[in-house]
Amino acid sequence: MYNQGAFGGAANTEFGSRVFVYEVVGLRQNEETDQTNYPIRKSGSVFIRVPYNRMNQEMRRITRLGGKIVSIQSVSTLEQINPTASHESADNNKESSVTPETAANSEGNGKATPVSANSEVKGFAKPPAEEQPKKKDKKGNTMTQAKAKKGADVPVNIYRPNAPFIGKCISNDALVDQDGIGIVQHIKFDLSGSELKYIEGQSIGIIPPGLDKNGKPEKLRLYSIASTRHGDDVDDQTISLCVRQLEYKHPETGETVYGVCSTYLTQLEPGADVKITGPVGKEMLLPEDPEANIIMMATGTGIAPMRAYLWRMFKDSEKAVNPDYQFKGFSWLIFGVPTTPNILYKEELEEIQQKYPDNFRLTYAISREQKNPQGGRMYIQDRVAEHADELWRLIKEEKTHTYICGLRGMEGGIDEALTAAAAKEGVVWSDYQKELKKAHRWHVETY
Ligand code: FAD
Ligand code: A2P
Repeated sequence: MYNQGAFGGAANTEFGSRVFVYEVVGLRQNEETDQTNYPIRKSGSVFIRVPYNRMNQEMRRITRLGGKIVSIQSVSTLEQINPTASHESADNNKESSVTPETAANSEGNGKATPVSANSEVKGFAKPPAEEQPKKKDKKGNTMTQAKAKKGADVPVNIYRPNAPFIGKCISNDALVDQDGIGIVQHIKFDLSGSELKYIEGQSIGIIPPGLDKNGKPEKLRLYSIASTRHGDDVDDQTISLCVRQLEYKHPETGETVYGVCSTYLTQLEPGADVKITGPVGKEMLLPEDPEANIIMMATGTGIAPMRAYLWRMFKDSEKAVNPDYQFKGFSWLIFGVPTTPNILYKEELEEIQQKYPDNFRLTYAISREQKNPQGGRMYIQDRVAEHADELWRLIKEEKTHTYICGLRGMEGGIDEALTAAAAKEGVVWSDYQKELKKAHRWHVETY
């Protein structure tokens, strides 16, 4: 972290009228969700424009949100690199709660402006992807900046918690077959009449009814979107979620406790009204390149964004409405579930595999039915270890993006397996992974 006192003092220096851009990693998604105390993804850089006289204040705000400043540059320096920087960063300031302006105004008018997906890269600290020099790792493999999404808008915070959209539940279907463990539902909401737009890989907030244990209105919970931007009916009017009812034994009383929002959602009747906020999130977006390789690792409901990607890549109805995105790359889903009846969207996944055997590979880790080589439960990291050399070869390809979603606990094991594979070539995985993250090719959303 930069020294917070470094920019204290009077503004009447040569810097006084200057504007700086902080590159920040580890910010929680926004201040509203921060208040919920739920773990929210912490990867990816955001770029924040700060006038000189607010630098200390902004540093404190970033620290409060769990962020770390990794670089500070003056806008004039950036403008020399990229003459459009100043104009585009002004747009970016409208974006979301990560800017000082909107943070102060988080109880705003309930609407925000869509921003360009490439604005983080293009508008601020880095030149456009195409202009960036290619970095090389120790083995000489190139590490390019992933191509920014061109022309596509990433909508964020169109509906805020103080003015949510009231959607209707259209359907609520069980995803766990007979004898499976727990309750997981595919829930579809009607968005007609709203301005809510989203793209694959984003999340929405749901505000459950009622008061929390402090007598305050319940706060929103985030859920990954399981449908494509066109919705399950490909009519741009719906959004779908994949929700597991949280159920656990109270550590002291031993009583069974059910989660507030997940119970509300999984029991929702068709026709019921639901408070929806968002969308949020830019960490899990798909590259626009239809020839990219897409590696997906999911546990349980972590399948939600992967389902949206797979529909976009392979569904006939989606291909018909996305003439610019006809997937020709290779994709691989490694999916961890406790039992066979818990394989969410099993039929859809297996149908895609049968239809596109050269473009889609499907590997299950069925923890309570299969054993790992040590005789324990088969987890997704055991599958990653089993295929580590193959995955490592694929990950090294410039056009490969990796997505991880679901239980946070899987991350360490995945790193361990890839550490071993990379080490065979003298590459330090943790260093390589940092470069992948910088190049926006390593995407993680765990909760
Ligand atoms: P609450 O009533 O809020 O209870 C949660 C609290 O219970 C925890 O904070 C903890 O204090 C306690 N608790 C939980 N487990 C235990 C335990 N084992 N022992 C003791 N105490 C415990 N969920 C999905 O189902 N599908 C998704 O697609 C999805 N996507 C998400 C995306 C993101 C970016 C994030 C951050 C979360 C996502 N979640 C998803 C999780 C979701 O946001 C909620 O956290 C989840 O549904 C539980 O909320 P709840 O209101 O039911 O639980
Ligand atoms: P298990 O519960 O058998 O220990 P679901 O959300 O449907 O319960 O699925 C989550 C899957 O992830 C289950 O198979 C679960 O296994 C598995 N799992 C639990 N903990 C971890 C972990 N630390 N790393 C990887 N997978 C895990």
